[in-house]
Order: sequence, then C-alpha cells, then structure tokens
Amino acid sequence: MMNKHFRLTLATLTAVVLSVGCATSYDKLAYEKVQSMRGTDVSAADATFDAKNYLGKKPGQQPLVARTFNGQPPVIPHTLDNFDEITLEDNQCVECHGLARYKEKNAPKMADSHFQDQKVAMTRWQCNTCHVPQVDAVPLVKQNFVGNPGSKL
Ligand code: HEC
Ligand code: HEC
Repeated sequence: MMNKHFRLTLATLTAVVLSVGCATSYDKLAYEKVQSMRGTDVSAADATFDAKNYLGKKPGQQPLVARTFNGQPPVIPHTLDNFDEITLEDNQCVECHGLARYKEKNAPKMADSHFQDQKVAMTRWQCNTCHVPQVDAVPLVKQNFVGNPGSKL
C-alpha cells in the first residue's frame, strides 16, 4: 500500500511532467514562422518601395484602357500631373468630362449613373476614389486574375 507521502510526490511529479509537456508544445506553436502575404517576416519593418511615375501623357494623346470586368470604373489613361486638387467648388475632371464641355474637350462623357438632375451627383464628386491613374509596377502579391477583357460596362 502506498503511503501518503509517496502519493503526494507522485502527484507532484505528474503535474511537473504535464506542465513541461504543455510548455514545450506551446513554444513550438509560438515559433512556427508567421509570414505576411508578401513573404516577409510579420515583425520586420516594412521595406520602403520605389516611388514610380504615373504613366500617360496629357489628356487627348492616348487610347482608352480596356476594362477587365463588367462594372469596372475605367482606369485613367492620362497623366494627372499639374491638375488641381478636387475641392468642394472646383473639379477639373468635370470641366473636361462633364456635360457642359466634354464635346469641345473631346473627352469621354461621364457615365449617366454619375448625374442626378443633370448635375454631378455628390456621391461621384471625388472621382479618384474609383478612377485611378496607372503605373508600370509588378504586382505586390502573385495573383492569377485574368478578367474579361472584352467588357465595356
Ligand atoms: C483636359 C481635359 C481632361 C481633364 C482635366 C481630365 N480628363 Fe480624363 N480624359 C480626357 C480625355 C481626352 C480622355 C481620353 C483618353 C486620352 O486621350 O487621354 C480621358 C480619359 C479618361 C478616363 C477613361 C474613360 C474610359 O472610358 O476609359 C477616365 C476614367 C478619366 N479620363 C478620368 C479623369 C479624372 C478622374 C480626371 C480628374 C482627376 C480627369 N479625367 C481629368 C480629358 C481630360
Ligand atoms: C463611386 C465610384 C465612382 C466615382 C466617385 C466616379 N466614377 Fe466614373 N465611373 C464609375 C463606374 C463604375 C463607371 C462605369 C460605368 C458605370 O457603371 O456607371 C464609370 C465610368 C466613367 C466614365 C466612362 C463613361 C462610360 O461611358 O462608361 C468616365 C469618363 C468617368 N466615369 C468619369 C468620372 C469623373 C470625371 C468622376 C468625378 C467627377 C467620376 N467618374 C466619379 C465609378 C465612379
């Protein structure tokens, strides 16, 4: 028959073995390498990237860029260099793409969805939340998006 003292020692020993075991497997988990989608260590500081110039010359000098899916806001093919910021009163984009002067400017008219009672809807005022200029850059993350290059709307 085990005496009281022996039983206590056995219980303590079991507890120690168990906790060491847990601690070891916990450490193993903690040291499994976690990586960002770009393959860098998540705890490493972000590397600075090369600033690139936007592609495109002055408006009126290049073809439109084919859309890659239905409902895509077309990308901006021309440069935006030297354009003023969009403010509550001023919007140079509208000067060329709005109803009043698009013909004379030889610019594509903004889509009908952008107007409310012949005026630019305020939800469409900040053009560059949806329309973006282009740079020639390698995708940051490998991806296999093909799209539907024949799309118009
Ligand atoms: C001086 C006139 C002018 C200004 C200002 C201008 N654009 Fe353009 N935009 C054009 C012309 C002309 C085109 C046709 C492509 C070309 O020749 O560059 C065009 C093309 C586009 C297209 C492509 C449309 C399509 O169907 O593919 C988008 C989008 C666009 N512009 C958005 C903008 C935005 C946003 C701004 C303001 C930041 C802006 N544009 C300012 C004249 C202008
Ligand atoms: C909320 C997103 C959004 C905003 C903001 C927006 N657009 Fe668009 N734009 C679109 C989408 C999406 C299309 C594709 C046609 C459609 O679905 O309405 C489009 C189409 C266009 C086109 C091509 C017209 C055609 O025939 O398809 C021009 C030009 C254009 N937008 C200019 C502008 C300008 C200039 C502004 C700012 C005054 C602007 N857009 C603001 C989403 C937006």
